[in-house]
Amino acid sequence: MGEGNLVWHKGKVEYEDRCKLIKQKGLVIWFTGLSGSGKSTIAVELEKELTRLGKLVYRLDGDNIRLGLCSDLGFSEDDRNENIRRITEVAVLFRDAGIITLVSFISPFEFMREVARERLGKDAFVEVYVKASMNACIKRDPKGMYKKAIEGQIKDFTGISSVYEVPENPDIVIDTELLTVEESVRIIYENIKKNI
Ligand code: ADX
Repeated sequence: MGEGNLVWHKGKVEYEDRCKLIKQKGLVIWFTGLSGSGKSTIAVELEKELTRLGKLVYRLDGDNIRLGLCSDLGFSEDDRNENIRRITEVAVLFRDAGIITLVSFISPFEFMREVARERLGKDAFVEVYVKASMNACIKRDPKGMYKKAIEGQIKDFTGISSVYEVPENPDIVIDTELLTVEESVRIIYENIKKNI
């Protein structure tokens, strides 16, 4: 779609210059998991902790982004792939800005998570699988959506009527049925601290 007639216009300020300026490295921490698994809860607390430690962090959350940039998208496979494609590109820009970027989307398809990893480069991408059983998520049902999905009022609902592919090789697994939010944040921080 027109890429053939485009040439990258290089600037005079590079990623490394920005890193030096803000004294950190950019990194994308990609949270994937079922709705209600705890992705956003952990991302919010990690954002707070990293900010407290003097880091520049920004959080991209599925529900929030779907109110703006992706408000034209639904939950078909194609729309979810487009959702993740867009957010991958946004994450590429944020990371290039030197920002620690917390991406919190169900991102149910292994293929698109791999596309994100490749697009960002493996050193800039940390996949966190936020693990919770279907039963636990249904029990928590913080937004009442599982009830509606089970009753058939919401279609293509992840885990009920749409697939969630469990990550094959996540960098970090956080089991939210076993760990507290504080423990989860600590584990992630210990894993990434040498890279930020
Ligand atoms: S993704 O599959 O495209 O990655 P995303 O993380 O952006 O999903 O959005 C998930 C959020 O949308 C859920 O937390 C939930 O609040 C809401 N939602 C509404 N309809 C659905 C649905 N059919 N399946 C999953 N989540 C849905």
